[in-house]
Amino acid sequence: MNIAIASDHGGFELKQQLIEHYQSLGINFQDLGTSSTDSCDYPDIAHKMVKDILAQKTELGILICGTGIGISIAANRFKGIRAAILYNDFCAEMAKKHNNANIMVFGGRTMKFADVVRRIDIFLNTEFEGGRHIKRLEKIEEGI
Ligand code: RB5
Repeated sequence: MNIAIASDHGGFELKQQLIEHYQSLGINFQDLGTSSTDSCDYPDIAHKMVKDILAQKTELGILICGTGIGISIAANRFKGIRAAILYNDFCAEMAKKHNNANIMVFGGRTMKFADVVRRIDIFLNTEFEGGRHIKRLEKIEEGI
C-alpha cells in the first residue's frame, strides 16, 4: 500500500519522526514535504496531498499541522477526500470502520509521537465496515 505523508512547519518534527520510525520497520512513506521548520502555508501542503490521492498516486495520506485543524479543513474541501483527525484511539478505529477516511490527520503541537504511531497502526489494521455507511459516504460526495 502506498502511503504519503506531508506537514507544514508545525508538524515537521513529528513527520520526520514518523518517517524514521516506519522506515526502521521497512515501511517507506512518500514524503511530500515540507522539508524544514521554515514557515509555510498548510493549504499548500494539503493541496499537494489531495492532488496525489485524487490522481491515485497514493492510496492513503498522513497530514500534520500544528493542531491538525487547518490542514484537515483545507483537505476536506475536495470531493473524494475524507480527512479525519485521529484525536484518540477510538476515533482512529472509527475513522476507518465507519468513515473510510483516506487521510489521517494529526497535530504536531497537540499529540505525542507514541500516541500517533499507535493510532496509525490501529487505523491501518481496521477494515471499512461498508453496509449502512456506504450511503452516508455517497451523500457526502453528492453534497447539497
Ligand atoms: C501554523 O502556525 C499553524 O497555524 C498550523 O500549523 C495549524 O495549526 C493550523 O491549523
